[in-house]
Amino acid sequence: MQLMDSMDSGNRPISIAVVGTGYVGLVAAVCFAEMGHAVTCVDNDEQKIRALKDGIAPIHEQYLPELLGRHGSNSVRFTTSLHEATATAEAVFIAVGTPQADGSGEADLSYVEAVACEIARSLVSYCVIVEKSTVPVYTNEWIRRIMERNGVAPEHFDVASNPEFLREGTAIADFLHPDRVLVGADSDHAVDLLERIYRPLTNGEYYRRTGSIPGRCSSHNPPPLVKTSAKSAEIIKHASNAFLATKISFINAVANLCEAVDANVEDVARGMGMDSRIGEKFLRPGIGYGGSCFPKDVAAFRTVAEQAGVDFGLLGEVEKINASQKRRFVAKVRSALWTLRGKRLGVLGLAFKGGTDDIRESPALEIVQILLQEGCNIAAYDPAGMERAQRELPPSRQMRYATDAYDAVDGADALLILTDWAEFGQLDLLRVHGCLRYPIVIDGRNMYSPAAMLQHGLMYLSIGRPASYPAREISVAASAARG
Ligand code: UGA
Repeated sequence: MQLMDSMDSGNRPISIAVVGTGYVGLVAAVCFAEMGHAVTCVDNDEQKIRALKDGIAPIHEQYLPELLGRHGSNSVRFTTSLHEATATAEAVFIAVGTPQADGSGEADLSYVEAVACEIARSLVSYCVIVEKSTVPVYTNEWIRRIMERNGVAPEHFDVASNPEFLREGTAIADFLHPDRVLVGADSDHAVDLLERIYRPLTNGEYYRRTGSIPGRCSSHNPPPLVKTSAKSAEIIKHASNAFLATKISFINAVANLCEAVDANVEDVARGMGMDSRIGEKFLRPGIGYGGSCFPKDVAAFRTVAEQAGVDFGLLGEVEKINASQKRRFVAKVRSALWTLRGKRLGVLGLAFKGGTDDIRESPALEIVQILLQEGCNIAAYDPAGMERAQRELPPSRQMRYATDAYDAVDGADALLILTDWAEFGQLDLLRVHGCLRYPIVIDGRNMYSPAAMLQHGLMYLSIGRPASYPAREISVAASAARG
């Protein structure tokens, strides 16, 4: 085994292996290739690798088909052989899943461990092993220990943490136009290699290229590279997700208060967000956060703190508010329809947020499941999430998958908006009114202004804003009150 003595400081392509072809792994692989590096991407799912070799993107992600087409036949190779991928790589990025372990908040790191063992068996020259997956603090130390236990001498490898902050749906643009590149490493060799990998972004050169993916960075405004210890980087990733989830639960609790006192959470969020110390982002109230990251990462971070003897009870409250947000929404549906059994509901949205086909931990899907248990009949539509949703929730007498938004609403007792797809905010409201059996819209994502709904004669319930009732509904409510 050879130790690379002097790392050249030029801009030569680096040989990179990426282990895992999930959102993070696949996006990182094609983006490293886009930056000019030679990438081998490995996964043990043969079917997925076969599809990727044919240029088929397994996930719905903007620019992914384009980058697969651009690099799939030359600078990024797909393989099922971890040995082949890592044998000659200068950097191996571990981007395998770190799901929540059964029955606890802890992250299950068995995939990371298995990959580390196999890397140890494959190494033939100095290599930097980089954690890309979201992992608890101390994982870098465990990877180091596993490598040494498997016979690799400490001078033949380094371990670094380079967490990713990309969002599903905008993952490619987020990767290539990051707010910051975070390099957590305790060795100069590792820092140097990661600096060289990201140099096309940090020196702004990438943004001058013709055909570069557009985004917020430019050659005049390249992203900064932040260097920390490996442990600090691990914590930065978990703390960032936990903080964003906290912001969402906070605004959801404020929304609930606004509802109780007849205030408007949109105004409140705008007024709060204009304070630059608070910021306007992630203050959109709704039916709670979901997805493969926030729920799992808040739980994992809470457990990390617990294990370190630190009381981080705040995170438990964040989870509690998030869970109650779905129940509150169902209560709102009940308040509009009186009883639920046998009601026909048109549901727009199944994915955990707009712009993705991902339904993991989707609050929309959870609400649909509760409503089905309550005996409702549902016609649902989602622009990208239906295929995956059907695997979880097969079509049945109670559950129908619609061909478009208007088909979902046709003959329904109410329309529910559960995912913030842009197209759900641009519906032809006259047509919606015409399709509905009763003109009732219950919006879990605040996609419309109550005034616009009122103008179209729709009764409109949303999150943290006063409900709007057309004149007819007001007289119905008034006569109900008179008995
Ligand atoms: C999140 C983070 O935003 C990324 O920075 C991070 O890299 C990623 O997790 C990860 O760890 O891999 P993502 O899960 O793709 O990204 O989705 P977000 O856009 O953050 O939304 C998460 C959930 O919060 C969604 O259910 C969304 O609807 C909800 N949300 C978001 C709100 O309810 N209100 C908001 O204001 C923002």
